[in-house]
Amino acid sequence: MPRQKTSTKKPVKKSITKKPVVKKTSTKKPVKKSITKHVKQSSVPGSYSTVRGMKDITPKDSIDWMTIYHTAESIAHAYNFSYVETPVVEHAQLFVRSIGKGTDVVDKEMYLFEDRDGAKLCLRPEMTASIARAYINHGMQSLPQPVKMWYWGSMFRHDRPQAGRYRQFHQFGCETVGEHSPIVDAELISVAYNTIRDLGIDAMVHINSIGTTEEREQYIIELVGYLRSKRSYLSDISKQRINKNPLRVLDSKDEQDVAVIQEGPQIIDWLGDASKRFFMSVLEYLDELSIPYVLDSTLVRGLDYYSDTVFEIFPEDKEDKSQGALGGGGRYNPLIQQLGGQDVPGSGFSLGIERIMIALKEKRDKEQYVAPQLGGLYLAQLGEQARKRTLYILELLRREGIIVHHNLAKPSLKVQLEKANKINVSHTLIIGQKEVQDGTVLIRNMESGIQEIVDQKKIVNVAKKLLGIQK
Ligand code: HAM
Repeated sequence: MPRQKTSTKKPVKKSITKKPVVKKTSTKKPVKKSITKHVKQSSVPGSYSTVRGMKDITPKDSIDWMTIYHTAESIAHAYNFSYVETPVVEHAQLFVRSIGKGTDVVDKEMYLFEDRDGAKLCLRPEMTASIARAYINHGMQSLPQPVKMWYWGSMFRHDRPQAGRYRQFHQFGCETVGEHSPIVDAELISVAYNTIRDLGIDAMVHINSIGTTEEREQYIIELVGYLRSKRSYLSDISKQRINKNPLRVLDSKDEQDVAVIQEGPQIIDWLGDASKRFFMSVLEYLDELSIPYVLDSTLVRGLDYYSDTVFEIFPEDKEDKSQGALGGGGRYNPLIQQLGGQDVPGSGFSLGIERIMIALKEKRDKEQYVAPQLGGLYLAQLGEQARKRTLYILELLRREGIIVHHNLAKPSLKVQLEKANKINVSHTLIIGQKEVQDGTVLIRNMESGIQEIVDQKKIVNVAKKLLGIQK
């Protein structure tokens, strides 16, 4: 009999081991022992943490995260971009042909692997090439042009992790394919800039034009000649880049390099009349829209598919650009043809969500910034009957498109009101024992503290009025 007792003591834990049958020889605490053993056996460093350079988005981050998402979604819709999704896994060759050999993304940062059929695949490092592929694959050139698309998703680059630089990160982006016009570029810059501005971050657009492929080729010949003549003054990495990817030398933050670059040829002087006119026209639109920008003659962007307008957006108050841009983009007229499609121009941008999260946090720390007014309503409850009623009312409201904050656990009313205060709701709807019996709801104005009682049957209309959906 004592053995029987031992075997029934901890039935739940035993089931975790997936060995519900208790062996006769089982010791007193078989489960704990086996878990410890398991941990020890697999105690490879980091085996239970996220992969280096990748991170979880936890509830602590989720208000900012979702605020960014909803801001992005609403602005993309307002400017008539349609949402698209493409697979996270693509053929590696897609990015080799579009982003180009000699770029850091292709040479050093792609997550490459072979699948079980031997196909050479990768985790996408960015979305523009995928969008171009999708445009070609789905015959989108037969749709009315331009085709305007927006996306939100994970990208992967095996870079050295540091502040604002991750191996899995997220982008919100917009792409306009099928039109070569300065107003398209200005619209995209406006959407990117205003997304950041709507989030309360002051930003500055850095902008340049790198002209057509032919103009750039001429400029590169001049640049390489110049850099070779100054080779001894350059950093080691820039020396290596002269032949491999000379435009990347312009990106260097090294002091030695910066001095050389400042004296060197500037791409703007190699642009033909049409490219110059196009660029001037983009700038005029930006002036019209009061978008702050600086002309940045060394901005060339790291990816091969660009032509004409290129831009990056930085927090306005940051002198130090080492944490990188909040976003970037530009025109990519050669891309669709490079990938086997017709000669179709395109332009777009992507914003880095993790970098915007950092900028929001820094702003909050600096200005004791209060989270954006979430508004809305909180539905609080007290007691078992009230909890049941609350669940019913939640669904009733949801069917009318009304989402309310709530907590169906058993927190005190004080805790619920504190939470309602913290998330800045305008009113809290309270259902206690008495309200269940009377069929009423107590409505508390969180600013004035004034409370009124309303009939539960009127809850939908009352909620709509409080939210300003209905008069
Ligand atoms: P990108 O400049 O490589 O451009 O990336 C855009 C933004 O993504 C960057 O400005 C940054 O905010 C974020 N980002 C890039 N790498 C990382 C990283 N390792 N960790 C965290 N954030 C990162 C593109 O990806 C182009 N596809 C943009 C584009 C769209 N051009 C035309 N259309």
